[in-house]
Amino acid sequence: MDDLSRTLQQVGLNTVPQEPNCFPTINPFDIYRSHITELLAEITGVDKNIILPVLQTTSKLENGDLQMATPALRQKGKDMKAYTTEIVEKFPESPLVKPPVIVNGTFICFFFKPEPLISLTLSTILKAGPSYGFNPSLGLKDPSSPSSGPKKMVIDFSSPNIAKPFHAGHLRSTIIGGFLANVYKAAGWDVVRLNYLGDWGRQYGILALGFQKFGSEEKLKEDPIGHLFNVYVEISRISAQEEEDVKSKNEEILKLKEKGEDVSKIEAEVREIEENSVNERARNIFKSMVNGEPEAIATWTRFRELSIKKYQETYARLNIKFDVYSGESQISEESMATAVAKIKEAGLSEDSQGATIINLTKFNKKLGKALIQKKDGTSLYLTRDIGAAHERWNNYKPDRLVYVVASQQDLHLAQLFQILKAMGGEAKEISERCQHINFGMVLGMSTRKGTVKFLDDILRDVGDKMHEVMKTNEGKYAQVADPLRTADILGISAVIVQDMKGKRVNNYHFDLDRMTAFEGDTGPYLQYAHARLCSIYRKAAEATPDIPSDLTTVDLSLLNESHAIDLVRQLAAWPDVFLTTLKTQEPTTVLMYLFKMAHALSSSYDHLQVVGSERNVMLARLALYSAARQTLNNGMRLLGLSPVERM
Ligand code: ARG
Repeated sequence: MDDLSRTLQQVGLNTVPQEPNCFPTINPFDIYRSHITELLAEITGVDKNIILPVLQTTSKLENGDLQMATPALRQKGKDMKAYTTEIVEKFPESPLVKPPVIVNGTFICFFFKPEPLISLTLSTILKAGPSYGFNPSLGLKDPSSPSSGPKKMVIDFSSPNIAKPFHAGHLRSTIIGGFLANVYKAAGWDVVRLNYLGDWGRQYGILALGFQKFGSEEKLKEDPIGHLFNVYVEISRISAQEEEDVKSKNEEILKLKEKGEDVSKIEAEVREIEENSVNERARNIFKSMVNGEPEAIATWTRFRELSIKKYQETYARLNIKFDVYSGESQISEESMATAVAKIKEAGLSEDSQGATIINLTKFNKKLGKALIQKKDGTSLYLTRDIGAAHERWNNYKPDRLVYVVASQQDLHLAQLFQILKAMGGEAKEISERCQHINFGMVLGMSTRKGTVKFLDDILRDVGDKMHEVMKTNEGKYAQVADPLRTADILGISAVIVQDMKGKRVNNYHFDLDRMTAFEGDTGPYLQYAHARLCSIYRKAAEATPDIPSDLTTVDLSLLNESHAIDLVRQLAAWPDVFLTTLKTQEPTTVLMYLFKMAHALSSSYDHLQVVGSERNVMLARLALYSAARQTLNNGMRLLGLSPVERM
């Protein structure tokens, strides 16, 4: 007999309650949901499939562990208040739940009996360890058959532009995208993490030209991202100056013409500037890149590869690894040409002075007109995205294509999805699987040295600040093995948590002081909660030499204080929080849960002393705190944080 059946038998249940789509060995709540469903079906005669989904988790422990609105049972023609009373009166004595309670006339609240809940929950957590809360069968193509294989997702996130600043939008995309990739992986999906670099277009011709003028091999190797950015800024300055010169000369020409004077000399000057201008030469370089001329391609490949190497190091600090570094440059001319041809065939596009545009207003006024091919036949950001969607489809056959991109690009992605849909056939099928995960802006993000340019600058600054904060506690600081590394991790946690606190669509203010504080709902506060649990275990192990390695074997009935019980009720809810997160796709769902738990933990310590308590009580509390540490740890890792053991 398995452990779960044995535990349930001890409380008097001979079979494990299991309704469809419930996972009793993974999710303690599913045992209760199934059990209550079975009891309610018996007394009401209502179909179990109706009851199960309307048993809902509560936001406050005072309202019970599960709750149900009687009208949700869809029994017409009944007096709901009387019906509610009837159900509650008929509800039989159960080994798992207390007699139900009515709230507001038609709400029924179910409270779990503490003793079985504690043993079921703590043993589930301690056995599942790092996977507690996660459920890899959710991502199966057919959830009832493991051989159906997992669903696949291609998630495009971070996607910065080479030689341009890594701005707040990229930071948020990186954080949110990394989180979503973790969530879907934990739900068993096959996740392809894709970085779609901005690395194509005439501006990369400008960059190559700039490098000829101002580039340094040494600097490129040392700091490719910074150096290319500087080169780009310098060459752009020259280009802007040229445009300025041409403009003023043209104005002069007009004036001279009015006076009837000779303009041939100054016209020749304008021509001279234009022919040798940065813009013109960059256009040619880019043309040779498009044509695949080896020399042009070689330079550009080097820029790209060195930048990617650098990005990889920075992403590693954030616990993020991409499976693919793609980018606009990787989209083949052929796949774009095929798509454009289909668009033309379908009669979607029109010619506009040699360029090709699609009038999308007939689908939705807000979508406007979209340019998909320039006069000279070259592609645009949108065209490349159309090609990219087809390539993702052909390469991976994904069930879902996710784009984690700032709300500023809502229109761009809406146009992309609409164009695919209108193209029909396979493209329409692709469009049905596309999802834009958008998010608001970060306001006032600047480092102490000025405006932000690169992700590294932000992380360095926050890490420095964290290091200062840590040093204010000399005693603890002395105990941390690698304070700089810890400061770096804490700083990153501060940034991530601040970013995830609100709903994705909300804008927020980048506030270095607030996010690095130990008080309030911050990253360092969560890390502190985790480190404290680790220290409780360390201290207990120092004081007691023979702690059993399997804490599920200790006498858990000694956990009878309300603080212990309420903590277990929260821990038991984690697998459900994970399920909700899959629906909301909001990091804040996880974060709010973790903060609530951290608060419950911090108010429990005075009541549930570990070291100094009688041995069996100590072991039971240690089991509770180990389970809490594990749950907190799992939630933090899901968010992309690296939980620290000391700080
Ligand atoms: N590189 C783009 C930017 O910085 C973001 C790309 C997002 N992904 C996409 N498939 N369009 O604005």
